[in-house]
Amino acid sequence: MSAASIDVALPRLLSGISQPGMVQLDRHLDVHGPLPAPARLDGATLVELAERSQLRGRGGARFPAATKMRAVRASRGHAIVVANGCESEPMSRKDALLLEELPHLVLDGAALAARAVGAERVIVAYEGPNHDSRLSLEHALKQRRSAGIDSVAFELFAAAETFLTGQETSLVSQINGGLPRPSFIPPRPTQRGVRRRPTLVQNVETLAHLALIARHGADWYSGLGTETEPGSTLVTVLGAVNAPGVYEIECGTALEPLFAAAGGVRGAIAGLLIGGYFGSWLPAAVASELELSDASLARHNAALGCGVVVVLPSGACPVAETVRVAIYLATETANQCGPCVHGSAAIARTLHGIAEGTAAASALADLGRWTSILPGRGACHLPDGLAHFVSTALRTFPAAFDDHARHGPCEACSAPALLHIPPPSKKLR
Ligand SMILES: Cc1cc2nc3c(=O)[nH]c(=O)nc-3n(C[C@H](O)[C@H](O)[C@H](O)COP(=O)(O)O)c2cc1C
Ligand code: SF4
Repeated sequence: MSAASIDVALPRLLSGISQPGMVQLDRHLDVHGPLPAPARLDGATLVELAERSQLRGRGGARFPAATKMRAVRASRGHAIVVANGCESEPMSRKDALLLEELPHLVLDGAALAARAVGAERVIVAYEGPNHDSRLSLEHALKQRRSAGIDSVAFELFAAAETFLTGQETSLVSQINGGLPRPSFIPPRPTQRGVRRRPTLVQNVETLAHLALIARHGADWYSGLGTETEPGSTLVTVLGAVNAPGVYEIECGTALEPLFAAAGGVRGAIAGLLIGGYFGSWLPAAVASELELSDASLARHNAALGCGVVVVLPSGACPVAETVRVAIYLATETANQCGPCVHGSAAIARTLHGIAEGTAAASALADLGRWTSILPGRGACHLPDGLAHFVSTALRTFPAAFDDHARHGPCEACSAPALLHIPPPSKKLR
C-alpha cells in the first residue's frame, strides 16, 4: 500500500509523511506549526470556522461537522468527544493510516473538537486488534504529555471487531460497557451519549481536517475542491490498479487522475465499487466521465461514503464478489430489528442460490422487491447499505446474474476473492 497525493497543492493531511512509520511530534510541529491558543481561537469561533469551511464528516455520511458541534453545545451537561477511528469498513485503510502514521494530527483535531464543544475529555476509539494504532497513539500521547501540549484528558478505547463497531450509537454503547449494537434514536449521542453526557462523535479524518483548518483558516481550506465541497479528502484505492493505497485528492476530482496516481489501471475492468460495502457498483464505462463529487456521483445513484474505490478486473466475477459481501453483511446484523435480521438473511440466501444456479425462477424479481422495501427499517443503516449494494450490483451486472441464475457458477467464480471478508466477528449476540 502506498500513501501519496496527486495534486501540486497537495498533500495537506499527508504532508508530514516522508517515510513509513509514525510522524514524531517534532516533525509534526515543523510541518504544521503549533495549534492556535484558545485566546486566539475560542470554541465558538472554531465552530464558525468549521461552518465556513463546510467541513463534512469523513466517516461515511458526510454530515456537516459544525451542525453536530452546535447540537452538542446546545445540550445540557459536560460534553465528551469521541474520535472514531474504528474503520469497520473492510476495504478502507485511511483511518488506520492516520492513527498509525499521523496520530498528532488526529489528536490535535480531537483537542480542538473538545474546545469547540467545551469538553474536558476525549476518547479515541480504534478497532481492538489494531495494535499498531494503539502503539502509535500511546507513543504520541506520551510525547504530548512531556511537551505539555494538551489541556484535555485523552483516553484510548479498543472497540470490538465487527462491521457495526464504528456506527456511532454502537460505539457509544461499547464505551458505556454495553454490546456493539446500534440503538434507536432519539436520543442522539449529541443529546445523551457516553456516560449519559452530550457526546460529539467525529471520524478521525474529519478531526485531522479540523486541525489544519484551525491553523490555516476557511479560505485556505476552500482553496481546493468545489464550491459546495471544498478541501481535500482521503481515498483508499484497491483492486486492479498498479499501486493500491491511500491517496489524498482534491474534493470533486475526476476518477482518471486518481487512477493515474495509483499507477494506472491494470488491464480491462468489469466495473467499479464506489463507497465500500455500503456503496454502489458502477459499470466500467462511467470511469472516464465520473468525478468524485456529490453531484457527479449522485447522477449515478452513488456517494463517496468513507472514500473507498475498488476497481474490479474483468477476470473477476461480480456475482461471486457480491454474494460474499452480502453474506458477510447479513451475518454482521446485530440481531435486534426483525426486518433487518430476516430481510438481510433472505437477500443473502437468495443471492447465494442465484450464484449456485439453484434459486427459484422468481429469485431475481424477489431480490428487486426486497431491496426496495428493506431500507429505513432498522435502528442503523446496515439494511439500507446491504440493499443498496445488492440492487446496484443487479443493475450493473444484469447479464452476469441472469447467467448464474440459469447455469450456476462461472469459471471466474473460483478466482481468489478481491473484496476482503473479515473472519466472523467475535461479538456477543
Ligand atoms: C454500519 C455503520 C458502520 C460505521 N462505521 C464507522 C466507522 O468505522 N468509523 C466512522 O468514523 N464512522 C462510522 N460510521 C458512521 C458513524 O455512525 C458516524 O456517523 C461517524 O463516526 C461520525 O463522524 P463524522 O461525522 O466525522 O463522519 C458507521 C455507520 C454505520 C451505519
Ligand atoms: S438494523 Fe440490523 S444491524 Fe442495525 S441495529 Fe437493527 S438488527 Fe442491528
